[in-house]
Amino acid sequence: MDTPKVVLITGASTGIGKACAEYLGARGYRVYGTSRRGPESPTATGPFTMIRMDITDNASVKKGVDTIAGREGRIDVAFNNAGAHVVGPIEDVSIADAETSLQTNFFGALRVCKAVIPLMRAAGGGSIINMSSVGGVLSLPYQGIYGAGKFALEGMTEALRVEVRHFGIRVSVIEPGDIRTQDCRSVSFATSAYEPWFSTAVKLYEADEKKGYPPEKIGPLVEHIMNSPNPKLHYSFGRAFQSMVPFLKRVTPQRLAQWLFCQMYKT
Ligand SMILES: NC(=O)c1ccc[n+]([C@@H]2O[C@H](COP(=O)([O-])OP(=O)(O)OC[C@H]3O[C@@H](n4cnc5c(N)ncnc54)[C@H](OP(=O)(O)O)[C@@H]3O)[C@@H](O)[C@H]2O)c1
Repeated sequence: MDTPKVVLITGASTGIGKACAEYLGARGYRVYGTSRRGPESPTATGPFTMIRMDITDNASVKKGVDTIAGREGRIDVAFNNAGAHVVGPIEDVSIADAETSLQTNFFGALRVCKAVIPLMRAAGGGSIINMSSVGGVLSLPYQGIYGAGKFALEGMTEALRVEVRHFGIRVSVIEPGDIRTQDCRSVSFATSAYEPWFSTAVKLYEADEKKGYPPEKIGPLVEHIMNSPNPKLHYSFGRAFQSMVPFLKRVTPQRLAQWLFCQMYKT
């Protein structure tokens, strides 16, 4: 690698973001991981550098991006990975929890995109990779608020990709199935009306997560996308069945899909 790419990864204190930052850092890229709990000033953490950035806060995003650009002169890749997962019946999830989830999953990624695009345009190009989910393609029961944020992210990504291609900026979205991490999850317990369906669905989700892909596998995919001259818009990722969900959703009649859903989640 002649000039190593400068890579910004949000949500790199744990899980997928941390695994990806470690992988790319070890491969020689100049990686900056961010999180709310990150250090005030850039601090080396193994093969990458951590810095504080709360993606729900305009000033924090600006400060983080300015700091990285000030040190490196550019940001070649932005991986919008940070997420906030809320689980619960839509009736029971508080508006405050729903706002936090959308502020992180959608507006957070949007803030980072708006901050890095001018830098990438000035540099003649770059790569933006947004972290969606199978839940951004198929809104799962009791994960409807999470799905709403990821659907919004998918919609924004699709349009952004066309808008910025004139500047050499490539935009893609990853739609993983279950990955074995903490998964930014906060469970909102059902008040009662949704029992026992809610508890059954949560048990199924937890069982699926235990069988999930190891987060270490995401690094090679991100490296492939960021170095591809013409990456795809959507990338599936995960166990065989889950990675087929986006395709299955397109080809399955809606009534049949809903029926299968109810059978799968016993709801
Ligand atoms: N795990 C899965 O099965 C799975 C499947 C599909 C998609 N995903 C997606 O993958 C991404 C990462 O998930 P994960 O499983 O690795 O979760 P995780 O281990 O809980 O990591 C979430 C990361 O986001 C950061 N974060 C949360 N809110 C933030 C904010 N306001 N500003 C900046 N950073 C923030 C957290 O750091 P701090 O708490 O320090 O801020 C943490 O580093 C998410 O977008 C998630 O939706 C996960």
